[in-house]
Amino acid sequence: MGAADIHLDNLWLPFTPNKDFHQSPRVFTGADGMYFTTAAGRKVLDAVSSLWCVGAGHNRREINDAIYKQLQTLDYSTAFQFGNDRAFEAAHMLAQLAPGDLNKVFFCTSGSEAADTSLKIALGYHRARGQGQRSVFIGRERGYHGVGFGGMSVGGISGNRKMFGPAMLPHVDHLRFIHDPVNHAYVKGEPPVFAEDWLLELENRILPLHDPGNVAAIIVEPVAGSAGWYIPPKGYLQRLREICDKHGILLIFDEVITGFGRMGAPFAADFFGVVPDMLNFAKCVTNGVVPMGGVLCRDGIYEAIMSVPTPAHVIEFPHGYTYSGHPVACAAAVATMKLLADEKLFERAASMAPHLGNAVHAAIKGLPNVIGIRSLGLAVAVELSPSDKGVGQRGYAAFQDCLKHGVLVRSAGDNLVLAPAYVVEQPQIEQMVDVLAQAIKRTA
Ligand SMILES: Cc1ncc(COP(=O)(O)O)c(C=O)c1O
Repeated sequence: MGAADIHLDNLWLPFTPNKDFHQSPRVFTGADGMYFTTAAGRKVLDAVSSLWCVGAGHNRREINDAIYKQLQTLDYSTAFQFGNDRAFEAAHMLAQLAPGDLNKVFFCTSGSEAADTSLKIALGYHRARGQGQRSVFIGRERGYHGVGFGGMSVGGISGNRKMFGPAMLPHVDHLRFIHDPVNHAYVKGEPPVFAEDWLLELENRILPLHDPGNVAAIIVEPVAGSAGWYIPPKGYLQRLREICDKHGILLIFDEVITGFGRMGAPFAADFFGVVPDMLNFAKCVTNGVVPMGGVLCRDGIYEAIMSVPTPAHVIEFPHGYTYSGHPVACAAAVATMKLLADEKLFERAASMAPHLGNAVHAAIKGLPNVIGIRSLGLAVAVELSPSDKGVGQRGYAAFQDCLKHGVLVRSAGDNLVLAPAYVVEQPQIEQMVDVLAQAIKRTA
């Protein structure tokens, strides 16, 4: 399909300035490996795995074949009252991949649904144990947990909240954001060591305010992805784990971005050596090819909810989606997990990570308006100071300039993020870093 054949009038694009989009539409019509093809026939290097999704690169035959085979075998079957063989297989593989006793998988279709599902499981768990008063959720400033009312409420990106302000969940509080722009604007491959104890406020103010016995769960992204790859200080997640344990609060890691290899390990939980009570996933679980999300729960959570005495016909946890454990999504997930293992793509992400981080620090530190660079795992963010035209204008201009020069980067406010597929090659890293550096200069 060529550019001229596309009707642009009917599609309302998500998280996109639609009016501006129509001034110069950006339309992809194909993808393979590390590259997109645009409607105008141009090649674009995908430097952000699309939306942090395509860890194994585009158009992987192994995944495509598995999907096609599944379609010819069991295309869809009801998700309620029945399971399908592929869903059991995917859940088993996920449990084997996940650390600790994160062995029970609740499937949904997106990261947003995973967020809401995990919050509901937290309420169900506490209630099953006779602690139904635990209803406070704690998120973190600038956290992103999708767009459902639960995820949005524990989320902390103000631009995503202000239009819907009055409709937030009650009983939600937020940890302070994990960033020290004075001492740790530049982070290279290692979590920074903060002089200050960043979680003291949780212990000394937030928990006493709500009473820890009323708190159901704390949800954080191990590395804050959507806000612009902000890295927790060393020891932060361990300490959060200890505080949650001390007060009987469930700890939820939202690993929608950090899961399935971005950190050079299966999950950020492995990378940081901290096992949460629930782990939310989506995106790379199917290489982005079929929508899928889910929540991995520790055994004890499932067991507590199952141990409530109920008659045989009563559903223990009244929650689920028509497409929970969809056989085609599960076939894609099984094939993706096999591919990640067969090609040792977690290891590959780990080995490419320093190349990406070092290249960005070397080429971009000191360029006009650059006020921070943070690299960890196979991802890096370059932070620009906001222009007097408003927050995000500079990031958006650099994003557009990169695209004009054949590279897709992601702008998150005034952060520009590179997070390529794990199959990225050194020359492609050089190209994306060079184009980003030139864009920053051109749009300064
Ligand atoms: C950490 C995190 N949680 C949840 C979501 C929402 O996922 P989805 O867009 O699939 O609903 C995202 C999306 O980027 C995310 O990064």
